[in-house]
Amino acid sequence: MAKQVEASDFGNDFKWGVAISAAQNEGAVLEDGRSQSIWDVFAKRQTAIEGRAKPTHSSNFYHRYKDDLLLAKALGFNHFRFSISWSRILPEGIGKPNKKGIAFYHAVIDECLKIGLEPVVTLYHWDLPQALEKNGGWTSHQMLKWFSKFVNLCANEFGQKVKQWIVMNEPFGFTSLGYMLGKHAPGKMGLSNFFPAIHNAAMCTAEGGRIIRSEVPDAHIGTSFSCSEVMPNTLQDKDVLAAAKSDVLLNRLLLEPVLGLGYPHMENFQFLEKLHLHTKSWRYQQQMAFDFDFIGIQNYFAVTVKNNNLIPYLQASEVTAKSRKVPHTQLGWEINPESFNRMLHRIWDYGNIPEIIVTEGGACFKDVFQHGVINDQQRIDYFKQYLGAVLKAKNSGVNIGGYYAWTLTDNFEWAFGYNARFGLIHVDFATQLRTIKQSGYWFRDFLQT
Ligand code: NOJ
Repeated sequence: MAKQVEASDFGNDFKWGVAISAAQNEGAVLEDGRSQSIWDVFAKRQTAIEGRAKPTHSSNFYHRYKDDLLLAKALGFNHFRFSISWSRILPEGIGKPNKKGIAFYHAVIDECLKIGLEPVVTLYHWDLPQALEKNGGWTSHQMLKWFSKFVNLCANEFGQKVKQWIVMNEPFGFTSLGYMLGKHAPGKMGLSNFFPAIHNAAMCTAEGGRIIRSEVPDAHIGTSFSCSEVMPNTLQDKDVLAAAKSDVLLNRLLLEPVLGLGYPHMENFQFLEKLHLHTKSWRYQQQMAFDFDFIGIQNYFAVTVKNNNLIPYLQASEVTAKSRKVPHTQLGWEINPESFNRMLHRIWDYGNIPEIIVTEGGACFKDVFQHGVINDQQRIDYFKQYLGAVLKAKNSGVNIGGYYAWTLTDNFEWAFGYNARFGLIHVDFATQLRTIKQSGYWFRDFLQT
């Protein structure tokens, strides 16, 4: 039998973290001067989110951060990743900072430092102030200016204490779901929204990195991307083409500009031709690049696709893990640690990434209450397999510096509302009672090895 993976196998300097985000955890959406974010407004649409859930209270990190940080520490983590709510510190999006909002993040950071958790700040985790959305949000040509002001404020406020920075969280996720498919806030659709959103996200990612580097001495700066290996359903040319096009979108579109390669090229992929035309990328190639200290990688599923001429541009649709009868999570996301291992290699093989950090990893399963404990064996098995994949890649030369579990407590899972639980700690949303799941205890024991 294969040897069990142990934390010590990853070396002493390996960063073991746990991650949350502002919109998903804080709640307190209108307290102490915070203004609405696009998610607060989007959630008011009756049909937008499962169970008509709203982020209004969520897991109430705003009031419970001390307890939650202690729990993160008790589970053995040494890094804590959280994001800054732009609406909390700059209610108008630009202009006058909100002192109480800033004080909250100082308190979180101070508490982390006090109990021995290294604070890791994500600047943008999908919750734009509604005040900016009113003026076009991510589709506006003013976005770079707005974002730069926000980043400058964060750097100058928190840079003395925070040395670990992640500029952007999964830019393909929020631009495609929020500005192309209308499934996430702000619910916009179509290429006329998607193209400018992509381009602004690419520009802001690099510029954010430059600002932190100039304002924060000794900062370790990264930015996070989602990735998913894409397999063709058959080896027929049309399925192989569908997979190649999907791969461009899921894995290359926003990573390659950062690495200095500009937007990807692919013959006869009209979507890309239009994007190039739209953004005249040759002019921006330099501005979209930045030499990040690390690239954050988040892999939640592998996908298999087949040709489907009904889907514009992509001509591809997914063949679900369920229909192929392969292991998957509650959300139907394929579990495939080998594929994760291959993605880590593939990203490393670009050759100009100094370090990879797995800035999120985790899975959604139904929690089973048994004799007073929350038995989430499937989540434990998931972590064992995925950590095995990380170790394998690390041992074969991929410089992987850390792993952040997603997520500390159950929280607001975007369009899935509160029914999709990813936490190591269960939250009863009616009472806010926390109960450590077996996976949380498993992590605690694992991190002691
Ligand atoms: C990645 C996102 O960053 C996070 O916000 C989300 O909860 C997880 N994926 C799970 O869907």
